Amino acid sequence: MARPEFPPTRDTHALVLDAFRTRFVREPEFVVRAPGRVNLIGEHTDYTGGLVLPFAIDRALHLAVAPRGDDRVYAFACDLAAEGEEVEFAVGDAATTGFGAYLSGAIAASLEQGEHPGGMDLVIASDIPVGSGLSSSAALCVAVAIAIDRLLGADFSALRCARRAHRAESHFVGTGCGILDPFAIALCGAGHALRIDCEDESTRSVPLPVAELSFVISHSGVSRELAGPAAGQGYRDRVAQCARGLEGIVASEPDAAPRSLRALSPDGLVRFAGQLDEVDFRRVRHVVGENARVDRVCRLLEAEPPIGLAAVGAEIRASHASLRDDYEVSIPQLDMLCEIADAQDGVYGSRLLGAGFGGCALHLVKPEAVDAVCDVLGARYRDRFGKDTEVFGVKAAAGAGIEAVE
Ligand code: GLA
Repeated sequence: MARPEFPPTRDTHALVLDAFRTRFVREPEFVVRAPGRVNLIGEHTDYTGGLVLPFAIDRALHLAVAPRGDDRVYAFACDLAAEGEEVEFAVGDAATTGFGAYLSGAIAASLEQGEHPGGMDLVIASDIPVGSGLSSSAALCVAVAIAIDRLLGADFSALRCARRAHRAESHFVGTGCGILDPFAIALCGAGHALRIDCEDESTRSVPLPVAELSFVISHSGVSRELAGPAAGQGYRDRVAQCARGLEGIVASEPDAAPRSLRALSPDGLVRFAGQLDEVDFRRVRHVVGENARVDRVCRLLEAEPPIGLAAVGAEIRASHASLRDDYEVSIPQLDMLCEIADAQDGVYGSRLLGAGFGGCALHLVKPEAVDAVCDVLGARYRDRFGKDTEVFGVKAAAGAGIEAVE
């Protein structure tokens, strides 16, 4: 079993450099690093204009880049298969296969704003597990958006890159996702979470008590891909149910209609219980409750003197219960991992991470309990499912940026 807080599975910066030199027999001009993200709380709220509280993690995608004199894009991904995978397309064409769709999507997002980056050679390597809810695909979109900015000679703007990466994945790849992932990856600071208001895109850095709190990730063993058919449909259904729920609320009180679900409090929502479809009502109840939980967790983390982490853990557990019961995006493996962890000494709380339907669970753990919690999670998972799963620690790292070629 993987140990907690182990270093990145390999030196991805060195790996992309080596692969670039071998592949293209020249030097890359620069390397972009784009981390994965963990969302502390605020799940399935971003596409309703809600609140989220993610942090960037110490696992990242690296992208080595050099401009070409023509309009072609050649890209090689070191680790999508043992022997790697490559795509080639012209700037402006839509690459439809595998990771190429994210590349051409990011390019399309800049072309539609009248900015033409020209051709480029790219090599990608990542130690963010794919399909795990840690945003490996958003990291790719952010990395390419940053690379394009640099190739265009623009002053670096993390916000512009985050917006373009979001446009790439949501519109051009077509997942319909919200801004949570690209904003977290581009804008987070080390040791901090970022409270993002997905209605007006304002952000606030929230300190994490990193000396008293460790983050452990456990994998359900079930991969999920938002761009894939099964999880993709489940995700799109939730987006549609929330939109329909809001429409129902607006229709029943046209004179005092809220502009978004964000304007509703858990108490204020109760009066709409009989007016909405039962499933839509539960979806909306999750979103409204989750927004309130994000605000409470921010207040707890920002309190002077700091308020106990037990209260943060209670909000994390409540988030999982709501995602499981009202939003119905959990699976038995994730419920089991959360239950096992929450029964251990030194665990503040656990919940599923990201979109759900598979992927990982997040556990908030006292630093001194991390080893024991990882051992128990690994052993109990193996007993129940007859195979190993990955359990590892993550730290709150800096958001995406450009690294010198070394
Ligand atoms: C995925 C999407 C995000 C967000 C989460 C759920 O990660 O990409 O935009 O909706 O699911 O919170």
